[in-house]
Amino acid sequence: MDLHARRADSFGAQAEAYAEHRPDYPVAAIRWALEPLNTSERLEVLDLAAGTGKLTAGLVAEGHRVTAVEPNEQMLSELVRRVHDVRALPGHAEHIPVPDQTVDAVFVGTAFHWFDQVKALPEIARVLRPGGVLAALWISPDPDLEWYTEFERASASSVESQRNNPLDVMAHPSFGAMEEKTFPHVHRRDSPEALIATVNTHSRMLVVDEEERASINAKMLAFLRARPETSNGPFDVSMVVEAFRMVRVSE
Ligand SMILES: C[S@@+](CC[C@H](N)C(=O)[O-])C[C@H]1O[C@@H](n2cnc3c(N)ncnc32)[C@H](O)[C@@H]1O
Repeated sequence: MDLHARRADSFGAQAEAYAEHRPDYPVAAIRWALEPLNTSERLEVLDLAAGTGKLTAGLVAEGHRVTAVEPNEQMLSELVRRVHDVRALPGHAEHIPVPDQTVDAVFVGTAFHWFDQVKALPEIARVLRPGGVLAALWISPDPDLEWYTEFERASASSVESQRNNPLDVMAHPSFGAMEEKTFPHVHRRDSPEALIATVNTHSRMLVVDEEERASINAKMLAFLRARPETSNGPFDVSMVVEAFRMVRVSE
């Protein structure tokens, strides 16, 4: 298995920690993504690459009928344990286990970069009704948060952070023009250890060997204990959500 495939399938090893320590998504981003549907009615929504349900929970809380699709068994089990009122199905973006034109919106939270877009985009187009929306969201620490940028430098690994390789959603004839909007968010961490636990759910940390992971964890702890922003008690990590939306056009 190549590194990209190993990373794409790495999250299940830390599924419980993922659910515990990764951030959720701001409701404003969900509502913005659904604006083109121009309705306040309950929608049929697919959360693709749903993981442990961080975004799924927000979609359910908005009152939508949600189907969560996720290939990793441990991630999907964690989702089923934590998010209720959702239909949870095993499956990949390149082969979505949902019939043609049955959903109003497909959401992808911090996962589009793992897809084979050449196969995934026509699959997403297939399951969407004309006029439906594809929304790809990425959540990550605010690039203007100085101490976090330094923290990232202090915690560099032999495998590069996904954040250094942002990926574009390709244009596709089944979709109209792409729109983009950024939303602020906050991830509260109770202690330096809690932020280290978050970083340990990132794919780069899941694929490095034990020795390298231990060394990076020690560096992160030393950094966070030395910084006034993080050394004492709970602190907030400012986050940004970069949201992209495209409308499914009729053919
Ligand atoms: C960083 S996690 C994001 C999970 C969740 N959407 C969230 O926002 O917390 C990436 C997820 O993509 C899933 N994934 C990786 N490759 C995939 C593929 N080809 N199709 C669907 N899901 C995939 C992984 O199993 C993992 O759960």
